[in-house]
Parts: sequence; structure tokens; C-alpha cells
Amino acid sequence: MEKKDLDWGSLGFSYMKTDYSYVCNYHDGAWEEGGLTTDHTVVLSECAGILHYCQECFEGLKAYTTESGDIVCFRPDLNAKRMADSEKRLVMPQFPEDKFVEAVKQVVKANAAWVPPFGSGATLYIRPLMFATGEVIGVKPADAYQFRILVTPVGPYFKAGAGKPITICVAKYDRAAPHGTGNIKAGLNYAMSLYPYELAHKNGFSENLYLDSETRTYVEETGGANVLFVDKDGTLVVPKSFTDSILPSITRRSLVHVAEHMLGMRVDERPVKFQEVLDGEFVECGLCGTAAVISPVGHIVDGDKEVTFEKGCEKMGPVMEKLRTTLTGIQSGAVEGPEGWVCKIC
Ligand code: PLP
Ligand code: COI
Repeated sequence: MEKKDLDWGSLGFSYMKTDYSYVCNYHDGAWEEGGLTTDHTVVLSECAGILHYCQECFEGLKAYTTESGDIVCFRPDLNAKRMADSEKRLVMPQFPEDKFVEAVKQVVKANAAWVPPFGSGATLYIRPLMFATGEVIGVKPADAYQFRILVTPVGPYFKAGAGKPITICVAKYDRAAPHGTGNIKAGLNYAMSLYPYELAHKNGFSENLYLDSETRTYVEETGGANVLFVDKDGTLVVPKSFTDSILPSITRRSLVHVAEHMLGMRVDERPVKFQEVLDGEFVECGLCGTAAVISPVGHIVDGDKEVTFEKGCEKMGPVMEKLRTTLTGIQSGAVEGPEGWVCKIC
């Protein structure tokens, strides 16, 4: 199979139409068989539930080319499970988890020519999504839905590029209500983050750091990634929400395992006060997620206060670097990871 003629190394994180998407419709209480489509558009009733009451959720994972030329993806079963949790919370029908994984494999295989080559620095981003197509006018769940998967080749999420520390700011707005929908991957969480996102960009910051909305005391996460810190003793400190409003990042959960079981590090998952960050308790900071991978944070600005991470402000700090090398090594097949993490597609 011949790869597409793209300048893989200069791709940013943006959408490019590929050959196939996957589509499957739900109506009359059941999912259709589903399959590949070359139609990358969606036609909806003006009264579709998604357009009024925002019944939508999505996922994000990536496909990689290994050194030996295989195409693989990383822990798709966890995306299937998290999507099922999102669907449940939004009163949407459950897309069977095994069907989800099969659909991911099918659409990636069909777009194999779009999976960036090994070592190019790019990957194929896979975006499963589900939305209400059924008509509703009173506030209630719809009775028809569409599940789709689009794929698109991508480069680094942050314009600063992989490895170069970014500066983020503490948002004056909230991302997720306590016990709300912050722990699921619903489009509505991102709609409300767009205004603060634009504001952060206008002020020269790459992302917003959100504090817990109940007390504005604890670190939660950023608009599109979980946060990691390294303390002075080299412990990986992972913010935990006591109001269940942080998205359970698959990258973060994998990194915690890698740190504890492969790198012999101490890991402390606990509520982290933003005051600890201001007090200089941490020497490295990073954002982790499928899109972000591990993006180092050099500085956090909160109004007129600024924190600099001593070991990670010029370039990615040593602990984040070790975590990133190990994780990306597992994802691209160079490092043996725990059984079942890497899923071969073709
Ligand atoms: N937090 C938010 C708000 C996200 O949008 C994402 C991206 O998926 C993450 C965290 C990271 O999650 P994952 O590692 O599963 O991609
Ligand atoms: C991902 O990392 O897959 C996400 O969905 C985050 C998004 C901000 C691009």
C-alpha cells in the first residue's frame, strides 16, 4: 500500500478529509449493521436533538505506524468504555464496546494510506462521535442517533511544537460543575471552554488551567488535557478531583502505570492545591492527553503571579521526557508495554 504524498513533518492539528469514515445509525431501538462511507457530510432535520439540547459525545485516539510497518492503535477498549460512560450520562443508546473497537480497526485499515509513516512525528487521529439525529422539541432524549468515526492525519497539538514548554494561564471561568459532566467527553464541555480559550490565546497563552469550580482552590485540568506535576523528590503528582469533574484521561492512567510499574517512580494521586504550585513545590509540569501526548508546561500565569517550573522551563524536564519516551515507545512498538495496550490493526 502506497502512503499519500503529504509533508507529514509539517502537519499541524487540523482536519483533512481522508478516503473513508465509518457510520452507523440507531433507530427503532436498535443499531444498524454500520460500515464505511465516502460521504463526509451529515444531513440533519432542523429539529434534531443535537441542535437543540446538545446530546453529543465523542472520543479521541490515534493510530501509529511501528518501525516494522504495522499499523496499531493504543488501548481502544478504554475509549469504547469511556464513550459508553458518556452515552449513559447523556441518555444516549450504548454503542457496543466490541463493535466500537471493530469499527476503529475497520476505518483505520481502510485509510491505511493516511497513517503517517514511522518516525514522521505525525499520527492518524481517530475521532469517534455520537449525536442525536431524532427530532425533539420538548426537553427529552431523542429516539434516533448516529455514531461516526472520522480519521485525519495530525502533527503536534500545540503550535509551539512537541517538546517546547508552553505557558498557560489560570482561567477566570469554570470548565465543569461539581458532579456535572466534566468526567465525560461531551461536546458541551468544550463549547463553554471556547470563550476562555480565545481569551487565553489573545493574551498570549497556549491553554487555560481550570481550578475546581466549587472552591477555586484545587487544580483540575486544562481545556483538552490532564495535568501532571513532578515534585522536588521526583514524585509524579497527579491532581485528583473530589467532585468528580476531571476527565479520566487514558494517557494519564497509562502514564501512572508506566511510572509506577515500569520506571519505578513514586506516584501520588491526590487533590493538589493551586497554592502548592504558587509556592514552588513542583519542578516540572506537563499536560497529557491523546492530542497533547505530554506537552511540557514551562510557566503558569495567574493574574499578576507567575510560576516557573525550574527543571522544565527551557526544555522538557527529565522526568516528563522519560515518561514521554516510554509512552511513545510503547505506542510505536519500540518498547514492550503491558499486555493488551497495543492493538494491531494491519
Ligand atoms: N482532558 C480533557 C478535557 C480532554 O479533552 C482530553 C482529551 O481527550 C484529556 C483530558 C486527555 O484524555 P485522553 O488521554 O484519554 O486523550
Ligand atoms: C484528545 O486529546 O483526543 C482530545 O479530544 C482533546 C481535544 C482538545 C483535541
